[in-house]
Amino acid sequence: MRDVMIAPSILSCDFGNMREEAENAVNAGARILHVDVMDGHFVPNLTFGPSMVKALRKTIRVPLDIHLMVEEPMSLIPAFLEAAGPMKGDILTVHQEACRDLAGTIGQIRALAPEILIGVSIKPNTPVSTLKGYESMIDMVLLMTVEPGFGGQGLIEEVLSKIDETRELFREAGKDILIELDGGVKIDNLHKLTGADLLVMGSAVFKAGDLEKTAENLKKIHEKLKDLL
Ligand code: DX5
Ligand code: ZN
Repeated sequence: MRDVMIAPSILSCDFGNMREEAENAVNAGARILHVDVMDGHFVPNLTFGPSMVKALRKTIRVPLDIHLMVEEPMSLIPAFLEAAGPMKGDILTVHQEACRDLAGTIGQIRALAPEILIGVSIKPNTPVSTLKGYESMIDMVLLMTVEPGFGGQGLIEEVLSKIDETRELFREAGKDILIELDGGVKIDNLHKLTGADLLVMGSAVFKAGDLEKTAENLKKIHEKLKDLL
């Protein structure tokens, strides 16, 4: 049976209580945590820097799934990797649209942290074909199912055809690729999304400030997923 993993996005938690929120999600079954890094340029919002990543790493024992929504991330990647203290199972994702030299950016991550998985993300309107030529370098494709920048938006269903398209592109290159969907994933649309390997869920998991509700949400989501697979 194929595994589908839920990656709760701490963007939707109570930032004033991030440590407890993160621990609570892990105790309720999260096997990875999604961390949205936004720079106020590539996306019109600003979130976490390396010190936040360092604090999270100290707090929790599961891998981190770091999503860099950052213009030209090469100058920031060393600081994020140092802060994270990379461990096996971590994922670091950059945006195709944000990198002038995508191959160079991937090479930089690989050289600094050979043990982690490297993701490349594309926005809803960016064609899958823009990843052609990079297949052998990439471990995961993150398909944005909303315009990046904010949690709580509705999933853009048109993006879902990209799941098969991505699998096909990588299969042709002889590569078994991981696919992650990010944005608007809810318990009610999970049944349409099980072709992916990882599903980011922010507002559907975290009820900021209500740890019990968050744990309950996560348990329900995992039960539903078990029924679907
Ligand atoms: C949006 C972020 C997402 C966000 C998803 O730009 O990349 O990871 O946290 O939030 P929901 O699940 O609420 O759409
Ligand atoms: Zn994200």
